[in-house]
Amino acid sequence: MKINPLPGRVYQAIPGFEDHLKTELPLNGWRPLADGSPLFFAETLGAENTATPVFWYQNCWLEPFRVEFDSINEAASALRDIQRNWAPCLHTQFRRGSLIASKLPSLSVKPRPFPWLLPDAPMGAWTLLDPHTMIAGARCSSPFPGGLIEFEEDKLGPPSRAYLKLWEALVRLRRWPAPGERCLDAGASPGGWTWALARLGAQVIAVDRAPLEDRIAAMSGVEYIRHDAFTLKPEDTGPIDWLFCDVICYPSRLYEWIEKWLASGLCKNFVCTIKMQGNIEGNGVDFETPRRFAAIPGGAVVHLCHNKHELTWMKVG
Ligand SMILES: C[S@@+](CC[C@H](N)C(=O)[O-])C[C@H]1O[C@@H](n2cnc3c(N)ncnc32)[C@H](O)[C@@H]1O
Repeated sequence: MKINPLPGRVYQAIPGFEDHLKTELPLNGWRPLADGSPLFFAETLGAENTATPVFWYQNCWLEPFRVEFDSINEAASALRDIQRNWAPCLHTQFRRGSLIASKLPSLSVKPRPFPWLLPDAPMGAWTLLDPHTMIAGARCSSPFPGGLIEFEEDKLGPPSRAYLKLWEALVRLRRWPAPGERCLDAGASPGGWTWALARLGAQVIAVDRAPLEDRIAAMSGVEYIRHDAFTLKPEDTGPIDWLFCDVICYPSRLYEWIEKWLASGLCKNFVCTIKMQGNIEGNGVDFETPRRFAAIPGGAVVHLCHNKHELTWMKVG
């Protein structure tokens, strides 16, 4: 058996957003791992190219390596010798891949409750190129198998399914508002995020130009303010523990507002959706503003599996 590091990263594209990833990856030095694969290998090219951040992926294998093996047992033990958790990402060799997977510790993919404290154990990923070649990565950007997490959904309480991306963000942060903490929920209506926050026992100031659903506005700890979120100054609400924002707006508008909050020092914890507009063909996608968000110290920009044509900026103090 031969194991060799691959100098670069493997990116797993988001279905439907492959072109976003291809646009972000350095112009040279990247290629699909194989025809038809959602996995793209991008070489480490040097400071200039690797400095360009990439956001449009479901999962990234940070230190990939190549395993050439003879038998299924050999392939499985190469992974088991490194760590417990390995999620397959197969685009070919499905039968051989499932035999290898059957010799690895099983991964639970059952829907999770919220809150759920994510275990610390790393989650790896692997694929097969042919019957005797595996590409794997022990460390991945997402802590979830293949970048995906499913929650035990509440079909009755929340008025929209938008709360799922908030839950996912908070699970990834391994932090969520404690009972009594003050939260500003900007772009709150119809009230999915406010519902999720109020259920944690937080005090929620829900701001939107549109009405919150009555039953959400009536939840304990919820105060609704009908207002343009962006004309609300940090001094108007005073210190808050968390700022949440799911307003549909140009990314640059959100960035300007967040700059004011950061400068005010009145909030340390943020979860904001960066809504993207345009398409690759029309050249209307703003790749620049997510980079400005990512440059804010202590934060990160990610594509959550519950995000659609949007990214999420998160930062906890
Ligand atoms: C995607 S929805 C939010 C969904 C919400 N997070 C939930 O869980 O139900 C976006 C919201 O942004 C609101 N919105 C758009 N522009 C706004 C602004 N300038 N100030 C406040 N709210 C705004 C819209 O009225 C809409 O309710």
